[in-house]
Amino acid sequence: MSNTSPELKKVVAEADDFLPLLGTDHIELYCGNAKQSAYYYMAAWGFQPLAFCGLETGVRDRVSYVLRQDKITLVLTSPLVADGPINDHINRHGDGVKVIALWVDDATKSWNETTSRGAESVLEPTERSDNNGQVVLSGIKTYGDTVHTFVERRNYEGIFMPGYQAWNPVQVSEPLGLQFIDHMVGNVGWGEMDTWTEFYARVMGFAQLISFDDKDISTEYTALMSKVMSNGNGRIKFPINEPAEGRKKSQIEEYIDFYQGAGVQHIAVATSNIIETVTALRDRGIEFLKVPSSYYDTVLDRVGSIDEDLAPLRELGILIDRDDEGYLLQIFTKPVVDRPTMFFEIIQRKGAKSFGKGNFKALFEAIEREQETRGTL
Ligand code: FE2
Repeated sequence: MSNTSPELKKVVAEADDFLPLLGTDHIELYCGNAKQSAYYYMAAWGFQPLAFCGLETGVRDRVSYVLRQDKITLVLTSPLVADGPINDHINRHGDGVKVIALWVDDATKSWNETTSRGAESVLEPTERSDNNGQVVLSGIKTYGDTVHTFVERRNYEGIFMPGYQAWNPVQVSEPLGLQFIDHMVGNVGWGEMDTWTEFYARVMGFAQLISFDDKDISTEYTALMSKVMSNGNGRIKFPINEPAEGRKKSQIEEYIDFYQGAGVQHIAVATSNIIETVTALRDRGIEFLKVPSSYYDTVLDRVGSIDEDLAPLRELGILIDRDDEGYLLQIFTKPVVDRPTMFFEIIQRKGAKSFGKGNFKALFEAIEREQETRGTL
């Protein structure tokens, strides 16, 4: 376990950047009812409607709603036909993340660099154009049925992508201060973590920032291992979790069982005011994991002084952790889909670049209490 700043910086600097990434372009979820999911993300999460494709735009087999809040773009897709790859994905996995799309300057080069290093292609470089210019897309497989697409949009001026129309339904909620994707975590199966961390290192030029083993992350019952992979400029961070042997079933195993394999476990979104953001989310019905109130009796002994009053943090259940560079505030939702699979993290960084290791034990005990109610512990 090592997360000290000089090492972090050195490791990132050493990452071989043959795959420069400008950021997360968008996240596409396959879901059973994209129209209603879009309403959920707008009404509860403050996303704004942006674009649409479906029957009205000449697409016959699927419908996609594109939502945005600051730098976060979600695409929600459902099939319009009885059989097909989207149906199969939903049938197997339930609602979940299909595409983690990465914004690049050159989607053809990104595809060449990654496939020549062993990535399996799902989309050869393809141009799409309309009156607003041209987008180039390419794609490769990652863990489970999840894929990365590379999106090149430097010659495009439209709202999202060729094939989409502007979508302006009645606005249902103000933005809630969600700013950008801080990190996205993948759960992989027994013995698969090294396969996928090596994939990100070898195929995508990522470097490992941090690793945790089951001594860092275990409770009386459950355990997991985690490694954090980052791209060269640090804009893209993908922690990868693998279950570890414990006395009872871990949350990672529960995920793998219900998702029927590897997939995106959580999406961490950044805010600059977590108290305001979480208050608004809670008022709109989003459910968060709760740690016992006793957590707050000793937390300041562990993390030292912080700018915020403790009372609202305690009231909302926001967790605090500190590393060499500062502290962070974080909170985790309960699963946001029917199966106990995908959830969100809300995070506000005040200097800290780590991921909340000091909260793992309290957090996992909270998750275990939830698993208990589901009969999956
Ligand atoms: Fe996280």
